[in-house]
Amino acid sequence: GNLLVSEEKSVSKSVQQMSIEGDEPPSQYIVNGNKFGSKDCCALIPISTIDVSLLSSESELEKLRSALSSAGCFQAIGHGMSSLYLDEIREVAKQFFALSEEEKQKYARAVNESEGYGNDRIVSDKQVLDWSYRIILQIFPEKTRRLSLWPKVPTGFSEKLEEFSTKVKSMMDYLLRCMARSLNLEEGSFLDQFGEESLMLARFNFYPRCSRPDLVFGVKPHTDRSVITVLLQDKEVEGLQVLIDDNWVNVPTMPDALVVNLGDQMQIMSNGVFKSIMHRVVTNTKKMRMSIAIFHEPDPKNEIGPVEGLIDESRPRLYRNIKYYGDINYKCYQEGKIPLDTVKIANN
Ligand code: SIN
Ligand code: FE2
Repeated sequence: GNLLVSEEKSVSKSVQQMSIEGDEPPSQYIVNGNKFGSKDCCALIPISTIDVSLLSSESELEKLRSALSSAGCFQAIGHGMSSLYLDEIREVAKQFFALSEEEKQKYARAVNESEGYGNDRIVSDKQVLDWSYRIILQIFPEKTRRLSLWPKVPTGFSEKLEEFSTKVKSMMDYLLRCMARSLNLEEGSFLDQFGEESLMLARFNFYPRCSRPDLVFGVKPHTDRSVITVLLQDKEVEGLQVLIDDNWVNVPTMPDALVVNLGDQMQIMSNGVFKSIMHRVVTNTKKMRMSIAIFHEPDPKNEIGPVEGLIDESRPRLYRNIKYYGDINYKCYQEGKIPLDTVKIANN
């Protein structure tokens, strides 16, 4: 399923170096105004907060359905992970990013691969680069873990990641059941499409300060390829913005919350009832920011598609069945296309 075969180019100076030296962003990082590029922010639209521990009640379930069909995101509280625990997770991530570049390069992403430590893969001269660096690690299926890329410093990194992602996975599975229930579907309607070999990835993001945040993005506007993404935001520094009704909305930091974002595969599976949220990250001149995103999606070999119970005369099938959606999403963004548009059924 590897749609992209091309040689990777490199940049002369790292974002980290430029940040430390206070450089103006070079042209490769500068965003030209496009449909989603406008820096206008922020509309005063509140982001819903959902208490996961209350989802057995009809009223909270309805709140969930409403948040996911209007926006495709919410702040989850009542998930059983204390803010102290979340701080510990943030701390290991911060300690990793604080290591010397030499130390971090031990886990460097290889050319044309996505796992490991580094910056954007550079596949074209026209590409606009993100003002960030990151480490991406695949967590499930367990047998696919590339442990040589899992940081050995700070100590306990791997154990913490394993524990945190396992907790997040059970919260996601529970949410997926609740989401199905909220639409009067069988509980397993979404989860059953994941298969035994569902994919879970962690992406630790680091956004250094930037002397010209007006010119760059920490992450350019995009929708996730996943079904569901859980995001542990920085405790204090904001930067994540989501697009709701064509307005960019700031997602406030909440020390004990996990941000839940729906990805494209949920929009497909729910036949457009639930929305994949367009989001982006802005940087600032004063403070670095970190975040940890955990992505969950079906075995890419599985064919996914709209749940039967969500297709009828008033809501005809919007998307075709599809395998390897992750590759499609990646390739579309490289080519400046909106990925979901390419799997839509014509005449709809
Ligand atoms: C992302 O979702 O792509 C990054 C989110 C963040 O850093 O808050
Ligand atoms: Fe994202």
